[in-house]
Amino acid sequence: MKDPAIGEILVSADDLERRVGELGAEINRDYAGRDLVMIGVLKGAVLFLADLLRELEVPCEIDFMAVSSYGSSTDSSGVVRILKDLDASIEGRDVLLVEDIVDSGLTLHYLLKNLGARNPRSLEVCALLTKPERRRVDLPIRYVGFEIPNRFAIGYGLDHRQRYRNLRFVAALQE
Ligand code: IMP
Ligand code: MG
Repeated sequence: MKDPAIGEILVSADDLERRVGELGAEINRDYAGRDLVMIGVLKGAVLFLADLLRELEVPCEIDFMAVSSYGSSTDSSGVVRILKDLDASIEGRDVLLVEDIVDSGLTLHYLLKNLGARNPRSLEVCALLTKPERRRVDLPIRYVGFEIPNRFAIGYGLDHRQRYRNLRFVAALQE
């Protein structure tokens, strides 16, 4: 039986695959002749990062950070705690931060400040999803997969209480 918590499809598996291919092509063009460090934000960005990585033809490394934002489960406070830091220095490197979703933008704002202070050569953001209606800080997001409406999204890495990350599509949580 279909899980009743899985609501309307926001982004289909086909659209995800097509868009990840397009983003990969853009990144290949923009970073030609350079070498890249992709930083995935655990855990939500894992599926997106893995698929995007397969599209890349520029030399690249991957690293991960895990953060938790204080606040309720659906509203981030902007106060962020690092649970897992990068393994390696990014000083002088071309860094692409890969996020699953930018909602209020507070988490990303913190991450950009934190990573920027480590003196990378460049620092850009690639976010699979954004919810423009919810944005509380203006942020430079170089690559965006899809803008979605103000719904809680699950699937393709995004969870609700740690479940539904395995879905091949992005759906709205049906509460
Ligand atoms: P922000 O700080 O409000 O931008 O929220 C950032 C983090 O909250 C994201 O990286 C996600 O981990 C989580 N988040 C925000 N909206 C959603 C959603 O619709 N589904 C799943 N996780 C979300
Ligand atoms: Mg996240």
